[in-house]
Amino acid sequence: MNKISYLRKLLYFAYKHNPILAVFPIISTISVLAELLAMMSLVPLSVIGTGQGINPQDPIVKVLNLIHLEPSPKCLVMVFCSLFIFRIVTNILGQNISLKYGKKVLAQLASRAFCNIVKHCKIEEIEQKSIGHFISLAGDESFRSSMIVIELHQLISISTLGILYFALIFWYSPVTAISVFLFLICSSMLMGTTFRRTHQLGITQIQQSKSASTIFLDALNGLRTVRSFFAEDFVVDAYQNSMQSYTKTLYKIDLINILIKFIPIAFLFSALAIFMVTGLFDKYAGQGLNFVFIITMILFLMRFFPVVGQGLNVLMRLISDAKAARDVIEIIDSQQGKRLGDRVISDKITSLSIQDLTFSYKTGSPVFKDLNFNFESGKSYALVGPSGVGKSTLFNILAFLTDVQGGDLLINHESHKKFEIESLRKKVMLVEQESIIFNDTIFNNINLGENYSSEKIKKACQVACIDEFIDGLTDGYEFKLNYQGQNLSGGQRQRIGLARAVLRHPDVILLDEITSALDESTKRKVVESVLAHFRDKIVIFITHDRVVTELVDVKLNLATMEAQEIKQAS
Ligand SMILES: Nc1ncnc2c1ncn2[C@@H]1O[C@H](COP(=O)(O)OP(=O)(O)OP(=O)(O)O)[C@@H](O)[C@H]1O
Ligand SMILES: [Mg+2]
Repeated sequence: MNKISYLRKLLYFAYKHNPILAVFPIISTISVLAELLAMMSLVPLSVIGTGQGINPQDPIVKVLNLIHLEPSPKCLVMVFCSLFIFRIVTNILGQNISLKYGKKVLAQLASRAFCNIVKHCKIEEIEQKSIGHFISLAGDESFRSSMIVIELHQLISISTLGILYFALIFWYSPVTAISVFLFLICSSMLMGTTFRRTHQLGITQIQQSKSASTIFLDALNGLRTVRSFFAEDFVVDAYQNSMQSYTKTLYKIDLINILIKFIPIAFLFSALAIFMVTGLFDKYAGQGLNFVFIITMILFLMRFFPVVGQGLNVLMRLISDAKAARDVIEIIDSQQGKRLGDRVISDKITSLSIQDLTFSYKTGSPVFKDLNFNFESGKSYALVGPSGVGKSTLFNILAFLTDVQGGDLLINHESHKKFEIESLRKKVMLVEQESIIFNDTIFNNINLGENYSSEKIKKACQVACIDEFIDGLTDGYEFKLNYQGQNLSGGQRQRIGLARAVLRHPDVILLDEITSALDESTKRKVVESVLAHFRDKIVIFITHDRVVTELVDVKLNLATMEAQEIKQAS
């Protein structure tokens, strides 16, 4: 995505969701025009102040005469004050719109980024980039992107004001305007390096923010490990170093911004002082150069240069935030994720075949190569094999959470690529060894935003053999679970995860070591219950456990691809 297209997309997103933002340029143009007129009304005032007669050709004097008002000092002061008050009020109004809707854009960007990360980002990619990266993307970077929208609006009003002031200076004194223009051209050449430096600092700042978030999150998620190994100082030091580097970069960016804002005006006064000290003023005095001219120019330039400085300042912030906007827009753009075919699968999945399946993660050699096997409904399987052989990876592929790379996955003897992925995913449920628990009630943790009835949820909990435990709780299904389910045992969390899958009636159920935290008798009870409930479906366990391998129909070793039929005692 090139530099302009992501800005265009960002603005399109902001305006599409908040059309009222379009009012801002109109209000700000009216506001800057008011300021300009106010400043122009000071010119006849300064003429009167130096004891000279009023110039009847002065545009403000002309307007006052036209509406039959005497251009007296009192009247001119009134005009100045009224226009400036109008300028301030409209400025506040415009800024309010820009800030209010800028914040809305922040909420919209962050929510959309989060939505797309959750729905469309590949799981391997998320794992590779670290959670901190994505927290920053939906947080800090979305904030900076929304700031770009505000900054672009500010830039519109500042540039309009700057251009109008320049035109005014040119109208009063073309020589001064040309000198100012040349000065700005020379300065902007020097600015090029500063722009690049600011952009670099912006990128560094984002990386540092991401690394700080990652340390923070890892430490809190693994607090038990951190404390049991006395690694508190290790993580605190890492976080402290990360925050120090982050704030150092922030300081550098802010310093550049301050310098940029004040340097032009400092140059102006230096030039004026040189002009006076070297006697150049005396030399040209009388040839159109007098104190009224000097005061008028100072008035205009004193507003013009801060406006230029302010414009540069906003531009600098825009440049330092550019990387953030690019990252956020890239995520927002990746809306639909990967699509397979269009056909919605309505038939029951009775056969799931892997055909010459090959897979490797980006970083390593192939996890497995040319795998072939056919899973059929009405049968249960135990997938075994040494640690790291690729059992969980195969499950991710079977659950359509990871893309097929080499070979194919056949659904009822047809390539899975013909079907709409969402409809396939509804028919295959994966239960992980460590089921994620949300900080909510047991009911909501199983229901997960759907509309299942209490009876159905209770039935699913019976199949998962967790109903008795829940019934024994004071609040029953309304019992509130803590962060990461810390008020449950590992085995209880596993069975909550199992109940979620049972509730959704999949045709294929993939169970990744879901009995690892259970005692021998509960293990047998859970496995028998699952096998009875899903007897006409495809049930695949990943396990290292003899209790499970004895109860299933087929034991498949992923390392050798040997399948062994288990004779069930009837
Ligand atoms: N997200 C990932 N990125 C890169 N490599 C990965 C990723 N996940 C797993 N691997 C690698 O792929 C291989 C297979 O991992 P997988 O988790 O599928 O093994 P497993 O058979 O389930 O092992 P275990 O029995 O220990 O759970 C391992 O070598 C592992 O290091
Ligand atoms: Mg595994």
